[in-house]
Amino acid sequence: MSTLDFSTKIGSKRFSNPIFTASGCASSGQELSQFFPLTDLGAIVTKSIMTKARTGRMTPRMAETPSGMLNSIGLQGPGIDAFLENDIPWLVEQKAKVIVSIAGESVDEYGVLSRRLRAVSGISAVEVNISCPNVENRGQVFACHPDTSVAVIESVRRNIGGELPIIAKLSPDVTDIVEIAHAVINAGVDGLALINTLLGMVIDTTTMRPKLAGKTGGLSGPAIRPVAVRAIYQVHQAFPNIPIVGMGGVSNGRDALELVLAGASAISVGTASFGNPMAAINIKNQLSELLIQRGFNDFRDAIGFAHRGVQ
Ligand code: SIN
Repeated sequence: MSTLDFSTKIGSKRFSNPIFTASGCASSGQELSQFFPLTDLGAIVTKSIMTKARTGRMTPRMAETPSGMLNSIGLQGPGIDAFLENDIPWLVEQKAKVIVSIAGESVDEYGVLSRRLRAVSGISAVEVNISCPNVENRGQVFACHPDTSVAVIESVRRNIGGELPIIAKLSPDVTDIVEIAHAVINAGVDGLALINTLLGMVIDTTTMRPKLAGKTGGLSGPAIRPVAVRAIYQVHQAFPNIPIVGMGGVSNGRDALELVLAGASAISVGTASFGNPMAAINIKNQLSELLIQRGFNDFRDAIGFAHRGVQ
């Protein structure tokens, strides 16, 4: 019987397997824990947390699309104080590996959040969400420009201290994602999360008005998978040593394998969990089976395999 070393690494941290939740799709894991122990996943990536509690955007804030969905949540959340008081101790109690996602309206806010996290034990990495498409001011999509991306990452790096790996979450809504990746790598990130949702819009042809109260929203689900594969492939080709947490429409083990072959060191499962709370666990089992079938005994040998022998 073949065995597989399914572990993976991001910066200095090791994860028992490469299947994570995607930020925003499982809050801090409370609902998913009714279906399986959170320790079965490589990591729980929390919903991006901000300094203050937020109610998010007006409803309706979700809309179905062909092979996907739009969300316009607007970073709803309890704020960092309640998060540190309730969510982190609960996750630690579950013995889950935790990646805390943070989001800010200004460079300073990312610095403040990083300072709050620096002394917190039980966190394995910080995901810096600089790519939320659902902000009133598109100038706040820091990941659309190298300079603003760098300013945020430098602020996080200055304030977080220690060894905590920093993962920058980038937007596919740019001309050249490799340029943004290059900028944040130079600014000191240990990994990248690729990709956040794409900005989209749906108009209801009966009411003849936008379906979402916020008009635009982030497109996720299988419809965006080829965009994720392309972005991961391009960035891995340019920076083969930077770990990538890949996401974008992964619904089964084959989808996950595709992102791994493109260059992902871990896979986040998001939209698929809305339809099936066991999706991430099924994907983990299917991916492991597919890797064994293809003769791998170490997951890490499959990362970026599609690049080998290709000019
Ligand atoms: C949201 O809360 O609006 C989504 C967050 C994101 O896509 O980064």
